Amino acid sequence: MFTKAIVRRPAKSLVQGITSNPQLGKPDYDKALRQHDAYIAALEKCGVAVKVLPALEAYPDSCFMEDVALCTRKFALVTNPGAPSRRGEIEGIAEVLAGYFADIDRIRAPGTLEGGDVMMVGDRFYVGLSARTNAEGARQLVAALEKRGLSGQGVDMREMLHLKTGLSYLEEGFLLVAGEFLAAPEFASFKRIEVAPEESYAANCIRVNEHVLVPSGFPKTEARIREAGLSVILVDTSEYRKLDGGLSCLSLRF
Ligand code: GLY
Repeated sequence: MFTKAIVRRPAKSLVQGITSNPQLGKPDYDKALRQHDAYIAALEKCGVAVKVLPALEAYPDSCFMEDVALCTRKFALVTNPGAPSRRGEIEGIAEVLAGYFADIDRIRAPGTLEGGDVMMVGDRFYVGLSARTNAEGARQLVAALEKRGLSGQGVDMREMLHLKTGLSYLEEGFLLVAGEFLAAPEFASFKRIEVAPEESYAANCIRVNEHVLVPSGFPKTEARIREAGLSVILVDTSEYRKLDGGLSCLSLRF
């Protein structure tokens, strides 16, 4: 059960955020703000109290709050983002987390890790070895988990930005799976909901208590999630998609 979430308001500098999809165009800032409001409202509808941090103009990608921390049922951890332009986003995060967690750890250089590469399945955590999260960062995270009676394992990946670009655990054994992860043996035994190649963006959904937040505009994936018996709330993330961002990236939930 999630009771809290932390989000960061998008900065005007959002238009300079990192993207692998420049053909989608630059985000419209005012529309991004409206979508952010709707995202917060969707989290609140799921029963979560949302803390909104102020925008950080110096960091165009800083609204992608998930990447700077990991919140577990036992402790929180401040990451060390692999994208050099995002490293400064972690400043002040430990102080914010201290309002909620007594035990806060951190990833230290040369380890790098971004929260988008970490998928929680109960007390087990899957850590994508991506261009942003290196083996040393994953090793530090698994050690931090094991120290607290939790566990984790690395997942090889080659194509996607983050692990959760192509995977979302929807609880009750359901796993949304896309692209390179369709053939990954680690995920063979879940109740898989496969994402069609043309809808691969929709692999990034979040289960928040009784509902699944699903990006709008991906009808096949939406239908497959509903067919699994899950309650769907559609949220438009078009402006964040232009920066490779999705529903999970926009918040920390705990
Ligand atoms: N634009 C989000 C990221 O690349 O980290």
